[in-house]
Amino acid sequence: MSKPKSNNAKTISVALTLCLVCSVLVSAVAVGLKPAQIENARLDRNKNILVAAGMYDAESDTADDVAERFKDFDVEIIDLSKGSYVDDEALKAAGIPDRNAYDASQATKNKALSEDLGNNDPAGIGRKPKYAKVYVKKDDAGKPEMVVLPIQGYGLWGTIYGFLTLESDMNTIKGISFYEHKETPGLGARIEEPEWRAKWSGIHSYDENGNVATGVTKAGTPKENWVDGISGATLTGRGVSNMIQFWLGEQGYKPYLDTLRKESGQAIDNAAATQSTLSAQPETELAAKRPVANGKEA
Ligand SMILES: Cc1cc2nc3c(=O)[nH]c(=O)nc-3n(C[C@H](O)[C@H](O)[C@H](O)COP(=O)(O)O)c2cc1C
Repeated sequence: MSKPKSNNAKTISVALTLCLVCSVLVSAVAVGLKPAQIENARLDRNKNILVAAGMYDAESDTADDVAERFKDFDVEIIDLSKGSYVDDEALKAAGIPDRNAYDASQATKNKALSEDLGNNDPAGIGRKPKYAKVYVKKDDAGKPEMVVLPIQGYGLWGTIYGFLTLESDMNTIKGISFYEHKETPGLGARIEEPEWRAKWSGIHSYDENGNVATGVTKAGTPKENWVDGISGATLTGRGVSNMIQFWLGEQGYKPYLDTLRKESGQAIDNAAATQSTLSAQPETELAAKRPVANGKEA
């Protein structure tokens, strides 16, 4: 009579042992794969920076090509509200010991490194980081030839992450890329398609008054310097429009772009409003705050 009982105990102990072994195995694999996952995410991010910069050939470029070409960029941390570069000393004082490891998305989880946007949050990001990482490609004379800006905002189903590249006039859009989102394949996810992204190239970001003057229209309603939306994906288009307008605006990169334009002594056609912003900043502010050795990120 005691036999079935002992069989039950045996079965349970075997099952428990098996569960334990499996969970240890799964944990070990997860831990073991973590470095590879981080490396893949870094590669993918760098690839998308090159895509936005028009420096990536999907047909032929390898991971080595991406790593090599990415070296053309200086990786800088900027203070978004001041529009200036932040040196290592100031970063350390702010609690950021390693500029290369700085992640603006992570920073939004830290109250000291971000601010609550409250009702003033058109991109639906909740909190804005104080500091942003930007990627600057310079010409032989050391002047910014293009700048790649990380952007993010809420689409229809979740947050869309991407990069926007501006040409040396800090006004004309060179390219755009999206590397993470939850939009529907065949609908909102078409924002990733090269054909749609190509529509952004050559568009002017600001009007003559220095206001952001670009975005995404509803499909089939063309508007100068705006991009035609994707049919059946109006809501994703609205999300992209909002995020572009937010990041190019005063709360985003505008102070930095104004400073860059001024530093390179460029004529701005939309002088009036932009000029008043610029005149508030000393000419050498950006140069003074630039770290001695520009940060390079592998
Ligand atoms: C299953 C499903 C998935 C959808 N995914 C998206 C999406 O990713 N992006 C989007 O803008 N609209 C999406 N829509 C459509 C929206 O609900 C909405 O109808 C659409 O944005 C309106 O665009 P239109 O004015 O161009 O037709 C989806 C609809 C359904 C039923």
